[in-house]
Amino acid sequence: MSSLEADREQWSTRAGFVLAAVGSAVGLGNIWRFPFVTGEGGGAGFLLVYLLFVASIGLPAILIEFVVGRRTRSNPIGAFERIGTGVWRYVGWVFVVTTFVIMSYYSVVAGWTIRYTILGLGEGYATDPGAAGEQFLTLAQGVEAMAFHALFLLVIVAIVGLGIRRGIEVAVKVMMPAIVLIVAGLAVWAATLDGASAAYAYYLSPDFGSIAADWTSILPAAAGQAFYTLSLGFGIMITYASYLGEDRNLIEDAAIIIGFDTAIALAVGLVVFPILFTAGIDPGDPGVGAIFITLAAAFGGLTAGGLVGAVFFLTVAVAALSSAISLTEVVVAYAIDERGMGRLRATALVCAALFVLGLGPAYDIVLLELYDGFADGVLLLLGGLLVTAYVAWGWSEEAIEELEAGIGHLDRLGTCWIWLARVPVLVVVAVSLALGVVE
Ligand code: PFF
Ligand code: NA
Repeated sequence: MSSLEADREQWSTRAGFVLAAVGSAVGLGNIWRFPFVTGEGGGAGFLLVYLLFVASIGLPAILIEFVVGRRTRSNPIGAFERIGTGVWRYVGWVFVVTTFVIMSYYSVVAGWTIRYTILGLGEGYATDPGAAGEQFLTLAQGVEAMAFHALFLLVIVAIVGLGIRRGIEVAVKVMMPAIVLIVAGLAVWAATLDGASAAYAYYLSPDFGSIAADWTSILPAAAGQAFYTLSLGFGIMITYASYLGEDRNLIEDAAIIIGFDTAIALAVGLVVFPILFTAGIDPGDPGVGAIFITLAAAFGGLTAGGLVGAVFFLTVAVAALSSAISLTEVVVAYAIDERGMGRLRATALVCAALFVLGLGPAYDIVLLELYDGFADGVLLLLGGLLVTAYVAWGWSEEAIEELEAGIGHLDRLGTCWIWLARVPVLVVVAVSLALGVVE
C-alpha cells in the first residue's frame, strides 16, 4: 500500500456513508425525471415495470459497484486498472465520460431550480401553461441560466473541496432529513387537492394492456430510470464504497439506500400528479420542462402557490446538490488517487471544466435534451453493462468474498446474487441499450 493510500479518507460513521449514498441516489432523477418519464410511459403501468427493475436489477447491480469500490479502495478508473485484464483495464474511463456529460447539464437544471425558488418568492409563477412555457424558455436558456449554473458549481466546490468527512458527510446529514420531511409534507398537502383521486387512479392502477402494447419504449425507459435513480453506471457507488471499512453489511446498506430512493420517488409522484390533475394538465405531456412549465403553472394557479412552489423548488435544488457532489467526487477521487492532486485544486479544476461544458446546454435547451437522452439511454447502461459483465463473469470469486466481509459466509445467497447479475441484469441492460440506441 502506498502512503497515499494509507492516508485515504474514510467515512466517519455508517450513517455517514448510507446518507451520502442516499443523497446521491435522491436527486433530480426522483423529482424532475421520474414524473416526466412516468407520465410519458402512461402512469401506473410504467411505475410497475420500474419498481420490478429497481428490485431485481437495481439491487444486484448496486452490490456489484459496492464490492468493486470497497475491495480496491480506489476511484473507478484505478479500480479497473487493478482488477481488470486486457481491455477491461480501461472500463473506468466510460465513467469519466458519463460524469462529464451528465454533470454538465445536471447543474444547468439545478440552476433552474434555484431560479424557480426565487421566482416563487418574487414575481410569481405564470398561471396559464402557455405563459408558463414562455417564462420557462426565457429563464432556462441564456446568460441567466449560465449564471445559475455557475452558482451551483461554486457551492459544489465548497462542499467537495472540504473532503469526505468535513464536507460531504456533514452536508448530507443536514440535507437528507430535510428532503424527507418536506416531500412527506407536500404529499399530505397534495392529498387535499380536488384532483387527488383522479391522479391516484392514473398513477397507481396499472393497465396491463398498455404495458404489452408499448413495451419497446417502456422497457428501456424503465431500466434507464432505474439505473439513473440509483446512481448506477456513473461509478459513483464504486467511489463512495471505496471510502468504506470492511466491517459493514453491504446488503443491508444497499437495501436501505434503494428503499429510501424508491420511497422518495413514489412520494414525489403523490405530490406532482395531484397538482397536475387539479390544474387540468395532461401528465403525459413529455419533456424536460415538465416540472418547470406544467407544475409551475399549477403552482401559479393555487392559493399560496408561490410559497409552496418555492419550498418545492428549493427541495429540488437541495436534492440535486447532494447528487451532484457524488458525481463530482468520482472525478475528484481520480485526480487525487492517480494524479496526486490536492483535493481543493482537483475540485476547482473539475468544476471549471464542467462550467465550460455546461455552457452549451445552458444556451440551448435542445442540446440539454440531447445530452440527457444520450447519457441515460446509452452511457449509463453501457457503463453498467461493462462493469456487471466483467465482475459477474470474470471476477465473481473475489466479488463474493468481498460481499461476505462484514456479513459472514453467504453460501447460496452469494451464488444467487452472481447469477442474477450474470443473466437477468445483463439481459435487461443489453436489450434496453439496444432499444435505446435504435431510438
Ligand atoms: N441518482 C441521481 C438522481 O436520481 O438524480 C442521479 C444522478 C444524476 C446522480 C446526476 C448524480 C448526478 F450528478
Ligand atoms: Na434517484
